[in-house]
Amino acid sequence: MKDERKILDEVSRFVMEAMQKHDSGHGWTHIERVVRIALHIHSAEGRGDRLTVELGALLHDVGDHKFEAHDGPDEIRRLLGGLGVSSSVIDAVVNINQNISFSKGMRPDPGSVELQIVQDADRLDAMGAVGIARAFNYGGFKGNDIYDPRVKITDPPLLAGTSSRSVSTIHHFYDKLLLLRDLMNTPTGRKLADERHEYMVRYLDQFFREWNEGMDK
Ligand code: ADP
Ligand code: NI
Repeated sequence: MKDERKILDEVSRFVMEAMQKHDSGHGWTHIERVVRIALHIHSAEGRGDRLTVELGALLHDVGDHKFEAHDGPDEIRRLLGGLGVSSSVIDAVVNINQNISFSKGMRPDPGSVELQIVQDADRLDAMGAVGIARAFNYGGFKGNDIYDPRVKITDPPLLAGTSSRSVSTIHHFYDKLLLLRDLMNTPTGRKLADERHEYMVRYLDQFFREWNEGMDK
């Protein structure tokens, strides 16, 4: 196996290239943030294999069905195999790529620590001020309205698998973003999620106050 730093540099270059096709909410800067949050959670938790966490974060969106026809696992195996990464690390990275998505299930995954960490990092990047920006960016990319008051906000919220079909970006908060805090796998992720969740709640409160301005007069 090559030197770890060299492997990570080559994988970063590959991902940067692959992400150029994505809208900016899914682009390279999303990957960079997920890598940083994941490594932070990893060191705070003191559990799991660091190389698997970093490679898993770098490669978690490769082959995303919303953007690409390519098969994530095949590409990952070819790339990491070519760099001499051990087959157990490759399997763990493929496992992260295949199971990270919200739509794969609501419950925290009891499986690998590395998957739990990268999933928390990916979910944290969908929350808070950055998450709000990403949601409106993605909604715009899809041509969705910022909000459609004709459609009732579902309460209790819709569950897994429906989030990409939210009728408006504000609906997406109730379909997905406000559920993420309670889906955190690690105590460190949960702590970070609390602040981001509160911020989204305050944002929505202000949004609706502005939206309804003058309605009671
Ligand atoms: P995951 O990778 O967990 O499956 P997605 O790919 O569904 O997550 O979402 C990636 C980003 O796009 C997140 O920031 C998410 O909030 C946002 N997003 C997904 N669907 C919508 C939608 N219908 N409206 C607005 N934002 C969305
Ligand atoms: Ni992601």
